[in-house]
Amino acid sequence: MTGYRRVASLRTAGELAAHLRTLGVSLPIHAPRAGEPDPLAQPCDTGGGSVVGNRFCIQPMEGWDGTADGAPTELTRRRWERFGSSGAKLIWGGEAVAVSPEGRANPHQLLIDGEHVAALATLRQRLVDAHERAFGRTDDLLVGLQLTHSGRFARPNAWGRPEPVIVYRHPLLDRRLGLAADHAVLDDAGLRRLVRLFVEAAARAREAGFGFVDVKHCHGYLGHELLSARARPGPYGGSFENRTRFLREVIEGIRARVPGLTVGVRVSIFDSLPFHEGPGGTGEADDAPRPYNCAFGADPDDPLQPDLDEPARLLALLDSLDVRLVNLTAGSPYYNPHVQRPALFPPSDGYRPPEDPLVGVARQIEVAAALKRRFPRLVVVGSAYSYLQEWLPDVARGVVRDGGADLVGIGRMALAYPHLPSDVLAGRPLERALLCRTFSDCTSAPRQGLVSGCYPLDPFYKRRPEAAALAASKAGRA
Ligand SMILES: Cc1cc2nc3c(=O)[nH]c(=O)nc-3n(C[C@H](O)[C@H](O)[C@H](O)COP(=O)(O)O)c2cc1C
Ligand code: SF4
Repeated sequence: MTGYRRVASLRTAGELAAHLRTLGVSLPIHAPRAGEPDPLAQPCDTGGGSVVGNRFCIQPMEGWDGTADGAPTELTRRRWERFGSSGAKLIWGGEAVAVSPEGRANPHQLLIDGEHVAALATLRQRLVDAHERAFGRTDDLLVGLQLTHSGRFARPNAWGRPEPVIVYRHPLLDRRLGLAADHAVLDDAGLRRLVRLFVEAAARAREAGFGFVDVKHCHGYLGHELLSARARPGPYGGSFENRTRFLREVIEGIRARVPGLTVGVRVSIFDSLPFHEGPGGTGEADDAPRPYNCAFGADPDDPLQPDLDEPARLLALLDSLDVRLVNLTAGSPYYNPHVQRPALFPPSDGYRPPEDPLVGVARQIEVAAALKRRFPRLVVVGSAYSYLQEWLPDVARGVVRDGGADLVGIGRMALAYPHLPSDVLAGRPLERALLCRTFSDCTSAPRQGLVSGCYPLDPFYKRRPEAAALAASKAGRA
């Protein structure tokens, strides 16, 4: 076992605060008070004429369950309906949807081509209808679509066959992926084609009824990789201006082609070194010479520490482009999952956490708060709250009260306990049996070619045949 103290054992706010002090971090904690308005229940102006009804956001959560040609299935629709009835008023894109076939992260990722606009419209409508049934109104609900190209982590045709599209030679990740010395780097014409595909996809998203699109720049996928393409020659690499050219061109292209469509950006606002399983199974950073220049938002001389100079420049750029909706996340699920989604139990291809997962939660919350304070005009969604478990509502309330983020993003918790936001807002006690305990089955399943879902806690997934396959593979690893 990891030896880290279980969150469920922290019974009072005082115990949580004392435990955080032993870890050298702190988090705002704010319990609801009788007669006082709940910060989480306040509406939020997200710009573009849209005011969402509360401060909960459902993060994009893929299920690896589309059809072979990229259309939603009944599993996808079930997940989106549950997001709709969660009570959250901002739905950040449902899940990553690829703008081109070769950009799919897996052979079951959704694809936004001309064939699938109607199916995506139905998917969105199922979510909106579920929301309407549960809460009686949808005028304060905003639903976006996350657009992606999976770049280095593309695996479009077969689960076991990565087909990486890289934008620069990365000394550590190229080795990890076993890339040949002559593996092609996507050229400038290829990037310009992708700009057109993102713009085209945004037009289709609007046709399908979505209120905004996210030009995804996180988690090691293509947009995020470009942000650290210091070693790339030409117009899309090297200087900060060049590394953000793709993002600018996509945003400007959408503005010209789909006027009035709100654009948001989900970005890994800081990154770290890649990690691997070290002796005893605990995560250990890869060896890399300093300065390390392959991580956006990391200190080149001490890359385990965020350096917010360039992230602040990026947010200033987005602000200047009149992008107000930003969703701040960190790292990548492929090479440093403990940074991206703090968890007590590693996924099947992961490692035991090298730090108390609360430290990872606090890092993301602190960075988001520091940047929100520098860019008050931006509407900031924070990430990585699920590991807080029983303490999610009080920390979320504290962060919003203190202006550390405008909205609180719920990822894994939305798979395990989708109606947590409505329970919190209605003042109902939490259903502790539904709290995500970060078992990571929702990540381990797709790593083995199985659909994702909350196998430990959602009875629907518990009953599926994949649950037995997952349990057998876990037993084999034990
Ligand atoms: C099964 C699974 C699927 C995910 N799919 C996406 C995705 O499609 N797009 C995305 O930006 N993030 C995705 N994420 C990351 C989450 O949105 C979120 O950032 C992460 O889980 C940390 O938040 P949490 O602590 O609330 O879970 C996924 C995470 C999981 C566990
Ligand atoms: S499988 Fe369920 S409990 Fe485990 S991390 Fe995913 S959502 Fe949480």
